[in-house]
Amino acid sequence: MLNKSFKIRPLSDTFGAEIYDIKLSGEMASEDLAQIKALWNRYGILLFREQDIGKDELVGFSRLLGSLETHVRSEWLNETHPEILQISNINVDGKPVGALADGEVGWHYDQIYLPRPALGSLLYSVKIPPDGGSTFFADMTSAYERLPRALKDMVDGHQAIQSYDNFNSMYSTKTSGKQTNLTPNIAQPLVRTHPVTGRKALYLCPGMTIAIAGIDETESADLLEQLFDWTLKKEFVYKHKWNVGDGLLWDNACTMHRREPFDGGYERLMYRTTILPPNDRSVPF
Ligand SMILES: [Fe+2]
Repeated sequence: MLNKSFKIRPLSDTFGAEIYDIKLSGEMASEDLAQIKALWNRYGILLFREQDIGKDELVGFSRLLGSLETHVRSEWLNETHPEILQISNINVDGKPVGALADGEVGWHYDQIYLPRPALGSLLYSVKIPPDGGSTFFADMTSAYERLPRALKDMVDGHQAIQSYDNFNSMYSTKTSGKQTNLTPNIAQPLVRTHPVTGRKALYLCPGMTIAIAGIDETESADLLEQLFDWTLKKEFVYKHKWNVGDGLLWDNACTMHRREPFDGGYERLMYRTTILPPNDRSVPF
């Protein structure tokens, strides 16, 4: 059978693409899968609309992209499919079934706080409110490549301290003692080389990056502010307004994201899978 090319539509000037006429499942043709992987590497974010898939298909498709991680927040894993982390404001018997409720969730890189951060996340929309709750993405490859020379010299070869605890104290709930032990603050390079494409991206985010290592506090705060202002310029940001059935796959080595709040009177439920990098190319980066 001849290999057909997917029809795509770019989502912004520099990154992101919607792929048309595709149904995600655990049994994709190998040519289609190769094309999806190439587009994922090229665009950083892929949007698949009108999926109407179940948990088996979501997990099955995710597995084709890499080994899956069971998220450290065990309280919000799906009961029958623990590879799925639930993001939701729904309560059952007074207990939240998912993470992040209905408030603002600040800019972050998923898993920047782990020694072997995930390569990707796939978020699938099951139930959404009529307004709000959009997710914004920043293209950190373009943000790095267009960085003014003076700033580039200040980040190349340097490290920053990443804190999951900092993120949770602002946007989520505290981790348990065991979870806290698994997620101590960690130093990571400020510039990350992509494990597959080799392209460089800024690796920092307002929600989790608390300091630049090896320089004094004031200088660090000042430099971080300049870098955050730069990365959040309009030209690097894409806003995604969700429809039910959207699957959004992002590259966690070169994009960060945030969510705007929504009216808690409406229910929102998203399923997320977390895709690990290939074993031989995870760290160092
Ligand atoms: Fe996230």
